[in-house]
Amino acid sequence: MGSGLGTIWAHKGHHVFFSFSRDPRKLGTLANVTPHCRAGSPSEAAASSEIVLLSVGWAMVDEALKATGGLDGKVLIDCTNPLKPDLSGLAVGLETSAAEEIQARVSGARVVKAFNTVFAEVYHSETRLFGSRRPTMLFCGNDPGAKSTVSKLIIETGFEPVDAGPLSSARYLEPLAMLMVQLGRKQGLGTNIALNLIHR
Ligand SMILES: NC(=O)c1ccc[n+]([C@@H]2O[C@H](COP(=O)([O-])OP(=O)(O)OC[C@H]3O[C@@H](n4cnc5c(N)ncnc54)[C@H](OP(=O)(O)O)[C@@H]3O)[C@@H](O)[C@H]2O)c1
Repeated sequence: MGSGLGTIWAHKGHHVFFSFSRDPRKLGTLANVTPHCRAGSPSEAAASSEIVLLSVGWAMVDEALKATGGLDGKVLIDCTNPLKPDLSGLAVGLETSAAEEIQARVSGARVVKAFNTVFAEVYHSETRLFGSRRPTMLFCGNDPGAKSTVSKLIIETGFEPVDAGPLSSARYLEPLAMLMVQLGRKQGLGTNIALNLIHR
């Protein structure tokens, strides 16, 4: 998720700082092949960035947040899905969400849930278009300014942003990601799928 989204954003002209890997050479390679990029520690990445993407497995969230240090005032995009290891459900249940649990851990950050309902393969594809259609990206959060920033980033990434409301709507977006896993991995649709919300 991090390499795919970071690479798209770098090609859109953003300065991207790749971080948090067991293999720092991977980060260096990513930074070298994309424009405007650097690689380094999570605390360096967070300190030099306005927007931080948290793209680690649920089990690694605490370690990653600890490594970033202060996130006060930063826009923190949470694309995690707190899947149980056997994919049988959500580790946090349905009366909270990973996004809300993360917000509670970093109360000064402005958490926005986004990008979690689309497979990484779509971010690694050459285009986000499916034919001529731009897929929907549902997002939610409590800070209007942070949501506006992320909405623009969603458009730059190639999606139609749809505001799903407060951060507690992550309680719907995270199970929706489980449905995508069911469709993509168990029903045989594959991972190059995305949702398209229509309205009139
Ligand atoms: N993959 C998808 O299609 C998809 C779609 C939507 C949402 N998500 C969610 O997005 C989050 C990231 O998913 P992902 O597929 O990008 O995961 P991933 O490929 O496993 O990436 C996890 C990141 O954490 C790093 N990391 C550092 N220390 C680690 C450690 N001790 N153990 C494991 N990883 C460590 C990994 O770096 P190294 O491996 O280089 O060490 C990598 O940068 C997850 O919460 C997932 O549920 C995934």
